[in-house]
Amino acid sequence: MKVAVLGAAGGIGQALALLLKTQLPAGSALSLYDIAPVTPGVAVDLSHIPTDVKVEGFSGEDATPALHGADIVLISAGVARKPGMDRADLFNVNAGIVRNLIEQVASTAPKALIGVITNPVNTTVAIAAEVLKKAGVYDKNRLFGISTLDVIRANTFVAALKGKKPNEIEVPVVGGHSGVTILPLLSQVKGISFSDQEVADLTKRIQNAGTEVVEAKAGGGSATLSMGQAAARFGLSLVRAIQGEANVVECAYVEGDGEYARFFSQPLLLGKNGIVERRALGPLSAFEQQALNGMLDTLKKDIVQGEEFVK
Ligand code: NAD
Ligand code: LMR
Repeated sequence: MKVAVLGAAGGIGQALALLLKTQLPAGSALSLYDIAPVTPGVAVDLSHIPTDVKVEGFSGEDATPALHGADIVLISAGVARKPGMDRADLFNVNAGIVRNLIEQVASTAPKALIGVITNPVNTTVAIAAEVLKKAGVYDKNRLFGISTLDVIRANTFVAALKGKKPNEIEVPVVGGHSGVTILPLLSQVKGISFSDQEVADLTKRIQNAGTEVVEAKAGGGSATLSMGQAAARFGLSLVRAIQGEANVVECAYVEGDGEYARFFSQPLLLGKNGIVERRALGPLSAFEQQALNGMLDTLKKDIVQGEEFVK
């Protein structure tokens, strides 16, 4: 099993690489790439941790040495928000970075399962899909926008509010990954009921949680450690699915049947070749249905921006 992390010298990339070095199955390879010259050093640093996971690090303009033979590619390369910015403000820089890296994935590891972390995810995943399509290697079952951070935040906030253990809570979060497009399905949390006010407050907090971190870091970046954990959870779920484990289910932002928008985050059953089954959203409360209807214009515009960038 080989996992490549692109953007590996950054805040997310280093946290993610550490978690993968300690949690990937024995015999795996971890391949780190970033334009930053420190990247081979990050790999040397990690290599002193006594686990049976081989680490290599590559820097410079060419990502392909890191991509040969990769089963999974996780991409966190790009710039992060500062206070006062929306995720969409990152488009001008990050769109080109994602296009360039995906072109290299298409030529070097066309069968890899790809997880995109770089914001704005609603748009960068559409860019990735169009680049893969142009290269003739697009498989919509193998491309994911990683929205797991929304899920782990929702689990944390619900557990804190209701006095439960966070690992006993699993909140499906659907839609996209920014503002109103983030929709936690609180009505589906087993064994817990919420007042209307609790639903409104929790939904708002989950939608604004990225901004909560950006403001708390006061110009020093956005979520890195919680995102490292979220990306490790998602990446390790892909690993387990590739290795044949049954019933691996995660929410992620993927191309579906277009019922709501071309790309939409929903629960997915994962297998050796990526998505095995896109699960229906299930019954929604009136609040959730209204929020779903209300997000679609924004989400569709975000997607079109990505599609047009590649044309
Ligand atoms: P960071 O600035 O700490 O790290 C980004 C890294 O990308 C840097 O090491 C930089 O050298 C590298 N990089 C820049 N251009 C590159 C290129 N062309 N090729 C390879 N590497 C390149 O930022 P971060 O905090 O790690 O955040 C990275 C991205 O992840 C941002 O776009 C951020 O908004 C996004 N993010 C997404 C989520 C999510 O839920 N999906 C959560 C948090 C952050
Ligand atoms: C998050 O949700 O924390 C990330 O998307 C980073 C950001 O800019 O909010």
